[in-house]
Amino acid sequence: MITTQHSGAPADVQPLVSLALSFWGAKAAMTAVDLGVFGELARGPREEKELATALGFAGRGARDFFDALVAIGLLERRGQTYANTPMAEQYLDPSKPSYIGGVFEMTNQRLYPVWCELAVALQTGLPRNEAKDENDYYANLGRSSDRLAVFLRGMTGLSAAASRAIAEQAPWGDYRTFLDVGGAEGGLAVRIASAHPHLTGGCFELPGVAGYFDAYVARFGLSDRLQFHGGDFFEDPLPKADVIVMGHVLHNWNLDQKRALVRKAYAALPPGGMLLVHECLIDDERKQNAFGLLMSLNMLLVTREGFGFTGAECQAWMWEAGFGKTRVEHLCGSEWMVVAIK
Ligand SMILES: C[S@@+](CC[C@H](N)C(=O)[O-])C[C@H]1O[C@@H](n2cnc3c(N)ncnc32)[C@H](O)[C@@H]1O
Repeated sequence: MITTQHSGAPADVQPLVSLALSFWGAKAAMTAVDLGVFGELARGPREEKELATALGFAGRGARDFFDALVAIGLLERRGQTYANTPMAEQYLDPSKPSYIGGVFEMTNQRLYPVWCELAVALQTGLPRNEAKDENDYYANLGRSSDRLAVFLRGMTGLSAAASRAIAEQAPWGDYRTFLDVGGAEGGLAVRIASAHPHLTGGCFELPGVAGYFDAYVARFGLSDRLQFHGGDFFEDPLPKADVIVMGHVLHNWNLDQKRALVRKAYAALPPGGMLLVHECLIDDERKQNAFGLLMSLNMLLVTREGFGFTGAECQAWMWEAGFGKTRVEHLCGSEWMVVAIK
């Protein structure tokens, strides 16, 4: 957040300059993931020229690029030899089940280009991705395997930290079964099932996601406890479960659709069952949580009618649907969960 002195004069202008250029570091990291830097170094440390050749670099940029990644904290350099930092080795090598680099892939390929058109979205109110021409945007995602795969890996990365917090914080000991509605390839489901061996569950997703879910879950040896349920959550009833999770789902839709999904969750839960909505919430005053507000602008850019919301708004939809107790709880960074008990 940029601060000013009481006189109104800027306390320090550097934060403004840093804000203007903050996309540089992000774009360098996205590019490194897309070009395969971390997968290459996971096979072993490399000298500058060897690494540049393996990645197909020519000309003068390689040294600055690799050293910038060192300064950002994604690579280490000993003498002239580059290696992944432990963080990059574990989370950005695509051959490991723990890979979450999909969030960089998705940002680079899908979000960065549409954010360049934010002004047009504000002037027209229309999305800037395929949703501008496609009535059924999510159903169409499945028509291109590349597009769907990048999107699903992106979701696993986007929600990785929140998934860990949800697995730790929610009262899983009180329940036996769970269903992650719109759970993508199963990142959260795997995290919950790994942490709580007494639980069985799965994801309810569009049918085209089935193969990606099965492959992802199999990598963690959880195929016997996690099941895929294909369907359309606007058309089909949800399978019954003690806990229903909806993560970054409600923000995709208009107000009536948001309310309908909360009602649908209520119908699928037993008395005492729990609905857990996790999102990058906007603070109730709409003044502080910049990330929640920027996520809502992201919905302007990638959906027809989606928008972000506050914890208080979500609690109101839950009460309206019939839920009793609700609470808003911080997960990590800009991620929050809104919990409701039937
Ligand atoms: C923004 S993603 C959220 C993924 C995941 N829950 C997370 O937090 O990372 C929304 C998910 O809802 C799924 N979805 C969209 N429309 C759906 C529908 N009509 N029925 C079932 N799933 C749907 C999409 O395939 C997508 O994986």
